[in-house]
Amino acid sequence: MEHTLTRIKDHADLTVAELRTLVDPLRLPRHMAIIMDGNGRWAAKKGLPRIAGHKRGMEVVHEVVTACAKLGVPALTLYAFSTENWKRPAPEVSFLMSLLTLYLRQELSLMKRENIRFSTIGLVEDLPSEARAWIDKAKAETASNAGMVLDLALSYGGRREIIEAAKKIAADMKSGKIEPSALDERTFSGYLDTREMPELDLVIRTSGEQRVSNFLLWQMAYAELYFTEALWPDFTERDLLIAILDYQGRQRRFGKTSEQLGS
Ligand code: IPE
Ligand code: IPE
Ligand code: MG
Repeated sequence: MEHTLTRIKDHADLTVAELRTLVDPLRLPRHMAIIMDGNGRWAAKKGLPRIAGHKRGMEVVHEVVTACAKLGVPALTLYAFSTENWKRPAPEVSFLMSLLTLYLRQELSLMKRENIRFSTIGLVEDLPSEARAWIDKAKAETASNAGMVLDLALSYGGRREIIEAAKKIAADMKSGKIEPSALDERTFSGYLDTREMPELDLVIRTSGEQRVSNFLLWQMAYAELYFTEALWPDFTERDLLIAILDYQGRQRRFGKTSEQLGS
């Protein structure tokens, strides 16, 4: 802990350009995911309505997506709307849905410019038709891009994803497509929404909350977790680089001892 704090303190004196040069391009997280939390509290602190926080949050998404694509992060999943978020007041939910459409309208050109391939996880069929139409358009128009995969988690819940996978597996077993004895972690992963994504290496959560809120439960098994006090609308490229540097400074043991890992 003290070590981490010292490292972050050192970074405080560096410029963003200097921080960028410290990132090891060969050890970037293969798949990074962000729980973008704190929009409402950011707005409340400023005496603004919650939606003002979501609006500012969308600008931060632009900044972070651009930075990740330029760094060469292979895959980025952003938790934009959870299955539980449907329980929020209807006006906030509909604002978030219209913001999603606005985001896709505005950002499709960035995705094309940065060679980003757009994808989603979660139940897109739950979303309003206008948002769905833009999702389909963004997917179709970026399908052949070979750069970063930008994956939005929309109406996403980890438990539901696992249950849906279990149902499909049960159906495939019933029809004889797979044998119960053949079911292993790899096969199971192939039934999840993230089946085409690389292994999840780093999860960042903003706003000081230290919980996973039903995000990527299966995929998180051996991911590194990074929590920051910054509210999402205040999160910057600097914060992103510091999180990645923190990740690169960790020893991932996957159950082994440090000695076994050697040098
Ligand atoms: C995250 O910010 C955005 C979504 C969940 C859609 P919040 O809206 O949860 O903001 P807080 O946590 O209430 O501050
Ligand atoms: C998690 O944030 C979901 C998203 C960021 C989309 P929440 O604000 O919904 O999570 P809780 O309610 O604090 O667990
Ligand atoms: Mg929240």
